[in-house]
Amino acid sequence: MSQKAKGKYDSPLAATYKGISDLFKKQERVGVLDPSDRLDGKKVLITGSSSGLGLATAKKLAGLGAEVIMAVRSGIPEKGEEVKKASGSELIHMHHVDLSDFDSIRNLVDEIESTHKKIDILICNAAVVSKKARKTKHDLEEMFSVNYLAKFVLVNLLLDKDCFNTFGGNIPRIIFVSSESHRNPEEFEWDDFGVFKDYSMGKSVERYGYYKLLMTTFSQELSRRLNNGEQTNYSSFALCPGPVNSNIAREAPALFQPLLKVIFKIFFRSPEKASEPVVYLAASKDVEGKTDDYLFLMSRKEVDTKASDQQNGKRLWAMTEDFLKQQNDSIVIGAF
Ligand SMILES: NC(=O)c1ccc[n+]([C@@H]2O[C@H](COP(=O)([O-])OP(=O)(O)OC[C@H]3O[C@@H](n4cnc5c(N)ncnc54)[C@H](OP(=O)(O)O)[C@@H]3O)[C@@H](O)[C@H]2O)c1
Repeated sequence: MSQKAKGKYDSPLAATYKGISDLFKKQERVGVLDPSDRLDGKKVLITGSSSGLGLATAKKLAGLGAEVIMAVRSGIPEKGEEVKKASGSELIHMHHVDLSDFDSIRNLVDEIESTHKKIDILICNAAVVSKKARKTKHDLEEMFSVNYLAKFVLVNLLLDKDCFNTFGGNIPRIIFVSSESHRNPEEFEWDDFGVFKDYSMGKSVERYGYYKLLMTTFSQELSRRLNNGEQTNYSSFALCPGPVNSNIAREAPALFQPLLKVIFKIFFRSPEKASEPVVYLAASKDVEGKTDDYLFLMSRKEVDTKASDQQNGKRLWAMTEDFLKQQNDSIVIGAF
């Protein structure tokens, strides 16, 4: 049965209320990071690490010994300096990427291939909540492009260029920062997949949830494609960090900003605290050799059945491939 939460993420107000009320529900903790869960010698690529959850995660992972590659649209070099200072590590690199631009994603992957060769962990963290439908330079809707399509392109390009470290049985981890709002949509919009749809602020949270559903479905299908059932070659994990006091509502109307700031500060979790499930999935030995795990805060949950459904996963993958092939030549992925 699909765990519908229709109505609970239909508006910014409803989503805020749902996020806060979820924090007070009893959760069964999946585990804790052990002091021996170190990441020395591991390379982590993390998108959206200029702000909020991504920045906090970069600091924590650097503190655990990882070489952190920050793929960001802004904050070069100051956010990297901030991570160095907070972690005491010098193993921090920064690369520019605009995830709404497929040429920029391709450049990023070329740089990863030439500079860092192989990565052990990829964290697809960046996302946007736009106040209205906007077109990217490829004439695609920005949230569809950044919050879903960019992940599909980035992961497939990295796989295509053999950028994951699988040497000596190493199992790379691919982690998708999702949201419980992925449960909100009642169904997939197969008939007009990727077609630009106009919307304004009132619908933006609903659209955001739909793209989180696409991304979560992709994370499950990716896991099936990369693994043979008995043996895990790659871990594909997803999580919802719960409500985070970040810059995610930066496009909310100016009138509401002061109130939102107060609500976020009082009720939402700090990015440092909220990064716990991301860091756990990246570093814990408990999840070594596993795949498909989905954490909500620090509790393990099933993803929505629409996202775990194999037919949906296959269909989404095929439609995304076809969609990309129909676009401007520059965004077609060689691997297909
Ligand atoms: N905040 C919450 O309550 C909450 C709840 C559930 C899930 N999440 C998820 O947590 C993740 C992190 O969000 P956050 O809360 O930390 O928000 P945030 O502070 O707004 O961070 C979002 C990050 O994404 C980057 N980004 C946005 N568009 C981009 C683009 N076109 N190209 C490259 N980077 C881009 C931003 O870069 P710039 O700084 O350059 O704009 C920023 O670094 C997201 O996946 C979000 O959906 C958040």
